[in-house]
Amino acid sequence: MINLERRNLLGAGLVAAGATAISQPTRSFEVTTGDPSDADFWSNIAHEYELDGRYTVLNGGGNNPIPRSVVAAQTRYLRLAASQPRPFNYQLLAYQERHRTRLSKLFGCDIEELALTRNTTEGLNTVAQGLTWKPGDEVLISSFEDAYALRAFQPIAERFGITLTRAEIPLAPSREQVLSAFSEKMSSRTRLLVASHIVDAWGFVLPVRELAELAHDQGAQLLVDGALSFGHIPVDMRSIGCDYYATSLHKWLNAPLGTGALFVRKDRISELWPLYGVRNDRDDVRKYESIGTRDGAAVAAIGQAIDFYEHIGPKRKAARLRWLLEFLISELKGARGIEVITEVDEDRRAGLARIVVEGWSGTDLTRALREQFGFYVFGNFPGPKDGVYVSPNVFNDRADLARFREALITLSKA
Ligand SMILES: Cc1ncc(COP(=O)(O)O)c(C=O)c1O
Repeated sequence: MINLERRNLLGAGLVAAGATAISQPTRSFEVTTGDPSDADFWSNIAHEYELDGRYTVLNGGGNNPIPRSVVAAQTRYLRLAASQPRPFNYQLLAYQERHRTRLSKLFGCDIEELALTRNTTEGLNTVAQGLTWKPGDEVLISSFEDAYALRAFQPIAERFGITLTRAEIPLAPSREQVLSAFSEKMSSRTRLLVASHIVDAWGFVLPVRELAELAHDQGAQLLVDGALSFGHIPVDMRSIGCDYYATSLHKWLNAPLGTGALFVRKDRISELWPLYGVRNDRDDVRKYESIGTRDGAAVAAIGQAIDFYEHIGPKRKAARLRWLLEFLISELKGARGIEVITEVDEDRRAGLARIVVEGWSGTDLTRALREQFGFYVFGNFPGPKDGVYVSPNVFNDRADLARFREALITLSKA
């Protein structure tokens, strides 16, 4: 693989042309503990993002800002690729192997079980389209998957005559309620269970390890939508025991847009077809990466996103995100007309919640929070619990959330 570090770029004339070196975190992280409440550590982390000063971003559940080090690397790589796509774009793509090795450690899986895709959607569709279906086969899919996973399976259901059954999970479910929603609907025809690890727009953390056991006990498999979990909470494919896990690296890992990963358990690879025709072996996980030309700069800069994530540490990041959310929950306790809905089991809780303010639709609340108070959140969930979903990130602090609370209280009285 070529070495694309700074000295090589000097040779390529790129630094002279104005490219910046990759900015690594430089301030005094080592003298701090990095505990969730360690203001020095976290303000240094916040400094690594170039945020749009007009807004306080609280929608980590949607898309996340990308740290400076990643943007700088991607920009530098893009200049290189643009100067001469062949060979440079292809040489940048060679970073995939290094990333696969590093990411597989973060996933807790074998190197040969991880494909670098473009996003969660691609991973979900690879599984939906890659399994060999027989008419009458059944896919049992959680009732929370309306926006994403369900869409991957709807055309498959029509094309191959398979049945899509919903496991109807109540709001704020206990572990037992999730498991019985699935087990009640399982039959001898159930081939695949599908569930999010962290549920979009609500923040429930589903018991995916138990779901994998349930699926396997009855001869089925489990596909996990990990869009909001990887990079947010530590994950471990070995202990979850799922068959497939699809995620986007541009979400909580803060990697460049258009980067994702798909875990396929080793013994499932030969039976899961790739989306496209490929030259790779049937047993090679790289067959899911054969999509034609792709953006080498985005792929190469995944490395800086991994550096940044490892620098914070998966456990430390999860603890901070949760600590921030817990603060908001405690600040809103007892506030009239305001309801916070999130994972009920405090031991498993992550950093995402839905907030409902009486008398406000999610859309109006989103607009008012943005226009009147400068908070960037999202909400448009017509129904009894319409509200906004809120997910602080590592660059937020308690002061942001205290101001957010004030904004909600003001709007609740309006
Ligand atoms: C749970 C879930 N799955 C899938 C997706 C789709 O992600 P992408 O657009 O990166 O494929 C999202 C996006 O927010 C999501 O929240």
